[in-house]
Amino acid sequence: MPPSLAVNFAGVCMPNPFMLASAPPTTTTEMVDRCFRQGWGGAVLKTLTYQVSLSSNVTPRIAAYKDGDEILGFTNCELGTPHTIEEWAEDTYKLKKKWPDRGVFVSLLHTEGLFENQWREVARMFTEAGADGFELNFSCSHGMAEAGGGASIGSSDELVEKVASWVVTETSKPVMTKLPAMVNDLPGKAKAAQRAGAAAVSTINTLNSLPGIDIRTFSPLNSVDGLGAFQGLSGRAIKPVALRSVAQVASAVNIPISGIGGIYKWQDAVEFILAGASSLQICSAVMEYGYRIIGDLCAGLLNYMEEMGFSGIGDFVGKALPNIKKHHDLSRSYRVKASADDSCVGCGRCVASCADSGYKAISLDEARKAVFDSESCDGCGLCSHVCPVRGCITLRKEAV
Ligand SMILES: Cc1cc2nc3c(=O)[nH]c(=O)nc-3n(C[C@H](O)[C@H](O)[C@H](O)COP(=O)(O)O)c2cc1C
Repeated sequence: MPPSLAVNFAGVCMPNPFMLASAPPTTTTEMVDRCFRQGWGGAVLKTLTYQVSLSSNVTPRIAAYKDGDEILGFTNCELGTPHTIEEWAEDTYKLKKKWPDRGVFVSLLHTEGLFENQWREVARMFTEAGADGFELNFSCSHGMAEAGGGASIGSSDELVEKVASWVVTETSKPVMTKLPAMVNDLPGKAKAAQRAGAAAVSTINTLNSLPGIDIRTFSPLNSVDGLGAFQGLSGRAIKPVALRSVAQVASAVNIPISGIGGIYKWQDAVEFILAGASSLQICSAVMEYGYRIIGDLCAGLLNYMEEMGFSGIGDFVGKALPNIKKHHDLSRSYRVKASADDSCVGCGRCVASCADSGYKAISLDEARKAVFDSESCDGCGLCSHVCPVRGCITLRKEAV
């Protein structure tokens, strides 16, 4: 039997674990319809705005965080959607009628205050509209966080539990809480969500950031008439933080996790699953390349599963967790020592890094080849990462 990508995520069945994250790729249900036609398993609709006034987004509001020409991430200060809640509910009903086999989650809620009646009202409306479930946006890192919503809810165990329980008690559908990465005691927030009856946790949202400053005009980027605000950072740059968050939450609760943050390739997806996620959400990769990446994601994941002998996603959810330990549990019974092979090009980068950030263990000989003094080498590993020639510097274990 070939492996299957199908998942039952918190009671919602989808043909594969790949969902669009709540973000520009889910700005309208017409767009979600298009992504489903291309094969996406599910989607979290763009976070609903309770007060229409909030839909007046600033422009521009999205920028790329780059190293040269390479996009490392995006920064944004987007808040609103162009639709009213009533329009979203009608469109959600039509979307679900057309796509009964895909997961449609509704993201709640940008409000100008923490009003229980608003959260309950919207939960009721979208339960009736046939949404498969809810994602509670307790993690928006800019704008709403300053106004008491988003990440400021996700930073408090008490608020996570309180607001989640408003929605959980108002709907029969699964409720997932989207938690921020940069909080004290993320596992505590996940436990608070579980106590409230949440069916799943998703993590992470964007990371609060200052993308840059124009050094001539002193204007922060992205500039709106010369002024700026803190922005949310997404994409490749945040993947290590997202993986850590997923692993931390997976170790704290026994409800399913939707992993988000810097997923571009099928290999990224595998890592998130190994860290404990059983569905995956993607925004930045779609902003960069479009919905069509779903073909490669599914094909790559299937090939990997076949190669590894996994018949379903459940076979490897959290498989890496037993290998993630506390720092003091890691072995000190050996050290590694660095050495280079003949492919050394004599650039001297390892020499400079070791001398100025390490142990002065490397020099260049007359032929400009790196020579390692194994007595001085502390085995930190830095040289092998600054070396531009792949595989030139290797680290060999020595017992101590
Ligand atoms: C322009 C932009 C707008 C976003 N809007 C929302 C939103 O409305 N609600 C939400 O929960 N997350 C929002 N996000 C965050 C994404 O859903 C996602 O959590 C984050 O971008 C990390 O995933 P990625 O690295 O795949 O982009 C937004 C992200 C971007 C880049």
